[in-house]
Amino acid sequence: MSDIVAFCNQKGGVGKTTTAVNVSAIAADKGIKTLLIDLDPQGNATSGVGVDKNSLELSVYHLLMGQNSIKECIVSTSFKNLYVLPSKAELTGAELELIDIENREYRLKNSLKDIEGEYDLIILDCPPSLNLLTINGLCSSSKLVIPLQCEYYALEGLGQLVQTFELIRSKLNPDIEIAGVVLTMVDRRTKLAEQVISEVTSFFGDKVFKSAIPRAVRISEAPSFGTPLIEYDPSGKGTKAFISLTEEFLTRLGLQESKKEAGSSEPKKTTPIIESTETTTQTEEAQSSETSVESPSQP
Ligand SMILES: Nc1ncnc2c1ncn2[C@@H]1O[C@H](COP(=O)(O)OP(=O)(O)OP(=O)(O)O)[C@@H](O)[C@H]1O
Ligand SMILES: [Mg+2]
Repeated sequence: MSDIVAFCNQKGGVGKTTTAVNVSAIAADKGIKTLLIDLDPQGNATSGVGVDKNSLELSVYHLLMGQNSIKECIVSTSFKNLYVLPSKAELTGAELELIDIENREYRLKNSLKDIEGEYDLIILDCPPSLNLLTINGLCSSSKLVIPLQCEYYALEGLGQLVQTFELIRSKLNPDIEIAGVVLTMVDRRTKLAEQVISEVTSFFGDKVFKSAIPRAVRISEAPSFGTPLIEYDPSGKGTKAFISLTEEFLTRLGLQESKKEAGSSEPKKTTPIIESTETTTQTEEAQSSETSVESPSQP
């Protein structure tokens, strides 16, 4: 069965799409057949993997409305092993139209049955709200990844997300669990970064991925070229961070080892951004002084 992972945080602009796009592209590059599902009417994940929204006839809207099958709506990208179930502005209508539809929380889950076993990994980019689109995403998924922007208000609103997650787990999807929390846009020149990492770690413990994503201009430039970072800036520090994150993520899913051989490229050398004090050697510290931050102790 495919691993289905929702990238979700109802807070806007925290790096959900950037993380979903780049993790999907890197996993695909490692030989893992990956489907990226864009559940956001903004369609940023769709354009982020180079698919022109204007040229699309079908999108996830048609699927949720029962007008077309999932196989008809999925499109391939120019990247090997990477497919997308695209979205565009019409999806905004679905938020309202779904309200009166039977089994409205399970529309996506039910249609995923048609592609069972066809993909190794399915990643869902959720919109910045806890509406029916997000609920469809969470009801379809076995795992949740929470991207958190490394800023003063990082934990604001998280109570609501965790509460929604618990509600969905108790009432709609008992199988879902938190795979991890990704810190995004980390600027380690600031004292604030350390404080936020400490606070987030005391809230989520070892659910926080050791690989955090630095704030970097190249990361924000890539979407305007419709290309993931591994192609836009293969040796950049943002790309290295996403490779490291993806490896950690795939290991948590148990996908890394089984698919390593199938990869189209050699695994790249990576540097964790957050390294635990027990395991960081002096040499590693010196090498990663640009991006490594000392992990705060666990509560
Ligand atoms: N690590 C980073 N460094 C610099 N800019 C970044 C980084 N991550 C994301 N950005 C930029 O921040 C903005 C928000 O990122 P993104 O679209 O991934 O967030 P989101 O949570 O998906 O937003 P929304 O809630 O609107 O869907 C984008 O302009 C993106 O290019
Ligand atoms: Mg987004």
